[in-house]
Amino acid sequence: MKSLNVGLLGIGTVGGGTFNVLTRNAALISRRAGRPIRIVQVADKNLALAREVTGGKVELTDDAFALVANPAIDVVVELIGGYGVAKELVLAAINNGKHVVTANKALLAVHGNEIFAAARARGVIVAFEAAVAGGIPIIKALREGLTANRIQWIAGIINGTTNFILSEMRDKGISFDVALKEAQLLGYAEADPTFDIEGIDAAHKITILSALAFGIPMQFNRAHVEGISKLEAADIKYAEQLGYRIKLLGIAKWRVGGVELRVHPTLIPARRLIANVEGAMNAILVQADAVGSTMYYGKGAGAEPTASAVIADLVDVARLHTASPEHRVPSLAFQPDAVKDTSVMPMADIESGYYLRLRVEDKRGVLADITRILADQQISIDAMIQREPGEGESQTDIIMLTHVTQEKFVDAAITKIEALSVVTQKVVRLRMEELG
Ligand code: NDP
Ligand code: HSE
Repeated sequence: MKSLNVGLLGIGTVGGGTFNVLTRNAALISRRAGRPIRIVQVADKNLALAREVTGGKVELTDDAFALVANPAIDVVVELIGGYGVAKELVLAAINNGKHVVTANKALLAVHGNEIFAAARARGVIVAFEAAVAGGIPIIKALREGLTANRIQWIAGIINGTTNFILSEMRDKGISFDVALKEAQLLGYAEADPTFDIEGIDAAHKITILSALAFGIPMQFNRAHVEGISKLEAADIKYAEQLGYRIKLLGIAKWRVGGVELRVHPTLIPARRLIANVEGAMNAILVQADAVGSTMYYGKGAGAEPTASAVIADLVDVARLHTASPEHRVPSLAFQPDAVKDTSVMPMADIESGYYLRLRVEDKRGVLADITRILADQQISIDAMIQREPGEGESQTDIIMLTHVTQEKFVDAAITKIEALSVVTQKVVRLRMEELG
């Protein structure tokens, strides 16, 4: 049987993992794919690294554009990253009639609409299982396993680096900077780690999941993005006292009139399974009408877990590339002409519970003023703690959890609360999801 010939762009963390797993499990993979899957050429700027990883067994080049034009190659695996040269290479590969496998969530979230349209026009496959949650087959689950369902919401820990940092800080008491360095050494972090820390990477991934779940275009530029860099240790501690854990969640919700698409630190009840996902592990909860709630858990980053997803895509290509495009599973789960332009809601209209931390003068009547403002905005309080002021302290913290309300009401209440003379600092506001 003729082999499926692969050209590998980038042999760094994921590229190296892909080469190693494909080599180690070649015979097994070939039995599943129905034909051998063979890397015939590797392009990397660093030829010495490429030689070291491949042991000189494969043709090497430092000219990525030559690889995407190589007539011997059936599938191009893009593992360079970013949306600069990677976009040019992917479009060139498609234009040359090659199937593409990529782990590049940034590229797909920002330029996916253009890339999938180009692939459709050329009749080639663009597969991207590794782009969301590393080794977890969440793309296949949404695209195939849950196809009978109306998906209501998705909430996921989909950035390993930030989950690793939050876990290390909580369990080992190490600093943010030390935890980030560790994540970089372990190969979890993006080339620019601000993508991880500021929630951009998670926003890329939840954008892709929202397109698959709801049959909408990629709308990354409309996603709300907040990372963990401004999260304070005090809030992690107060959340624990109230029975909650704080996780960086990517959330996509179907609502009448639009879709919520947001990434931010979120309080989750500590008893939920997903609240106990630690380290670089990822987990995605999907709520759907027929099956109910399902959760997908596993390694969201790292060389071989991600390679596992890349190779699963290669096996799909090996099985399907001879089928006519209309007989393949649609790239984004919905038939391309059935995608609906439902738009992302403004944050003011989202619905959530809220955690509020207020720094106040320890005076009589303060609490009454605050609760009156909340009541005026129809916000009801679910739980509250007031820290006892220390000896000689004239100020204290009040922490409140609200029932679900619209963000615009909370914003209006915060503006009024901050205008009170007894409130001495900006109110800390975090969102809270029960995920029940
Ligand atoms: P790395 O930086 O480890 O690897 C990228 C490789 O591509 C490097 O060897 C780099 O060389 C090379 N490269 C850069 N530009 C070019 C070019 N123009 N031509 C040829 N080679 C080039 O990245 P990762 O393996 O970590 O990530 C790859 C992709 O996978 C990214 O899209 C990332 O977001 C995604 N991903 C990563 C995961 C992970 O756990 N690391 C998990 C899931 C997805 P040089 O170093 O010299 O620049
Ligand atoms: N930087 C990403 C993370 C890699 O930490 O999750 C996996 O996509």
